[in-house]
Amino acid sequence: MKETVALYRAAASRALDANFDVVEIHGAHGYLIHSFLSPITNQRTDAYGGSFENRIRFLLEVVEAIREVWPSSHPLFLRTSSHDWIDGGWSTQENSELAKILLEKGVDLIDCSSGGIKADISYPVSPGYQVRFSEDIKRSSKMLTCAVGMITDPELAEDIVKNNRADAVMLGREFLRDPNWVLHAAAKLGHSLTWPNQYKQAAPKK
Ligand SMILES: Cc1cc2nc3c(=O)[nH]c(=O)nc-3n(C[C@H](O)[C@H](O)[C@H](O)COP(=O)(O)O)c2cc1C
Repeated sequence: MKETVALYRAAASRALDANFDVVEIHGAHGYLIHSFLSPITNQRTDAYGGSFENRIRFLLEVVEAIREVWPSSHPLFLRTSSHDWIDGGWSTQENSELAKILLEKGVDLIDCSSGGIKADISYPVSPGYQVRFSEDIKRSSKMLTCAVGMITDPELAEDIVKNNRADAVMLGREFLRDPNWVLHAAAKLGHSLTWPNQYKQAAPKK
């Protein structure tokens, strides 16, 4: 485990050398860190399993190691699965508790996803279905958050940020459908953006 923590530190160091502006730790979707957080997968009986404090220990060590090399001038994000969608799994309450602790440890923003600890779990999805997880964190701490999940409509994105339901939004599949979504969203919301030279002839006429 110490070796793995060191690998996270080394990865952040390489990201800095490569001039990345932001590092996001993947603590969601059933990957290693999530498997420590969730009581569904974490069956350990040592200092890294059992209580909430023990299950978050590995993540805290990763955060600390990354912050040793990733300067405070550079934002550090963390993606978590806010909810396992399974009774007895990682809960939104634990996720909000974690956010409070991470605020003191140098994490700047929590990217609020969900699920992934177990296959074949069904849960209700609709536009902006994970925004409530961001709101949960914002209600209980000053941690910045990001909402993600079926946010495709510029007005919905604007509403989420304007009404302080999240500090930012992230889009996934919509960028596959429309790589120029930002240009189209800006036009729809009445903001002027400079279109790349190559696309100028396709820009909406003022
Ligand atoms: C092709 C594809 C690859 C993805 N890969 C990752 C990934 O590597 N890590 C991750 O956290 N989420 C991944 N996701 C999930 C997205 O980051 C995002 O959370 C999800 O698609 C929901 O947002 P959306 O409705 O805007 O797509 C992927 C999604 C797609 C469609």
